[in-house]
Amino acid sequence: MLHTPTILVNFARNVNLIHMKKDRILVTGGTGYIGSHTVVELQNAGYPVVIIDNLSNSNIEVLDGIERITGLRPDFVEADCTDLDALKALFAKYPDIRGIINFAASKAVGESMEKPVLYYRNNLNTLMNLLDLMAPNGVKGIVFSSSCTVYGEPDENPVTEQSPIKKATSPYGNTKQISEEIITDVINAGAPFKSVILRYFNPVGAHPSAEIGELPNGVPQNLIPYITQTAIGIRKELSVFGNDYPTPDGSCIRDFINVVDLAKAHVKAMDRMLENPEAAPIEIYNLGTGNGVSVLELINTFESATGVKVPYKIVGRRAGDIEKVWGNPSHANEVLGWKADTPLADTMRSAWAWQCKLRERGIM
Ligand code: NAD
Ligand code: WQD
Repeated sequence: MLHTPTILVNFARNVNLIHMKKDRILVTGGTGYIGSHTVVELQNAGYPVVIIDNLSNSNIEVLDGIERITGLRPDFVEADCTDLDALKALFAKYPDIRGIINFAASKAVGESMEKPVLYYRNNLNTLMNLLDLMAPNGVKGIVFSSSCTVYGEPDENPVTEQSPIKKATSPYGNTKQISEEIITDVINAGAPFKSVILRYFNPVGAHPSAEIGELPNGVPQNLIPYITQTAIGIRKELSVFGNDYPTPDGSCIRDFINVVDLAKAHVKAMDRMLENPEAAPIEIYNLGTGNGVSVLELINTFESATGVKVPYKIVGRRAGDIEKVWGNPSHANEVLGWKADTPLADTMRSAWAWQCKLRERGIM
């Protein structure tokens, strides 16, 4: 079989990009986990990108991974989004920015209980600075990373965008609720731009190339990085937090969504917001698979997909955990023309390949 050399594929893609003349997108937090996967998909779709990130929870080498996948190195500005002057300088340097995707935020639920002001300041000032600078710089729309955390413990599953918003149980969760309200107020006040709020369920996995993925700081709090670190021997065993929930196998249920599928939804949201006059000033979408999977089922899927055992023990419930939540993604399926369709086994293999790549590179 004949293979076209990567350099030619990348050259063709770059020429394509020059001709497509899509609007430039500012991606805040673009070297982070979801941001980096989204930059890949934006570039693949022909959008020129500039990233702003203060590298508080990511690494500059992520740019190399993005370049290896797409053949393009996104422009990068190392700065803090809470620094209004730095943002003004960025808009002055890139007057062609027409869309923003705002990933930049602090996201550790536990840390937010200990340092609430840090969370409110970082997450809310970042958003308000961006909103302030959009109109004067001719930006036409902003996509905001929200979370299924706004639904708390739902009365019914799957949740739709109309399901009730529950009182937040952490300052982190509260920043997402307040951010949604700020955006709504700004749009309702007649701002000359649009917004799409995306409520993610549980993003997992890595790019199939294993060039980019999730880089957890310290002991992982989230399930998948804990599973992969246990599987590779960094952690002795996984603690499963509770098997006495009123669910079929007693463990909690979540909607695990592949991070590349999730990233692609951002491109669809951006296309619609910038190009489709039918897009409402503010739109909200659940980004999930529509399937609830239990913690124990996920461990089994990981083991059968990779052939690697995950030693685990059942321990008590984790304070504040939601018993079960999964999303109804029909609205995004129908309006954005997007669907999360990567099989969970493939997602598990991608998470494992990424963990192995981190080991190969001597990172962990
Ligand atoms: P991440 O920590 O990997 O990425 C966030 C990036 O933002 C990091 O690179 C960090 O360095 C940067 N950053 C933080 N504060 C900044 C600031 N003031 N200025 C510039 N850069 C800053 O997180 P992620 O998992 O990619 O999450 C992205 C977004 O999605 C966040 O808003 C998060 O709250 C939201 N979200 C994440 C999940 C999840 O499970 N990962 C679920 C729902 C929503
Ligand atoms: C998933 C399940 C745990 C670790 C968090 C945030 C939420 C959102 C997504 C951003 C739970 C169990 C976990 C472990 C375990 N983020 N678990 N052993 O709690 O659904 O949501 O990330 O908005 O706001 O709270 O994700 O990956 O931490 O846990 O048994 O070592 O895995 O109890 O049932 P969660 P998670």
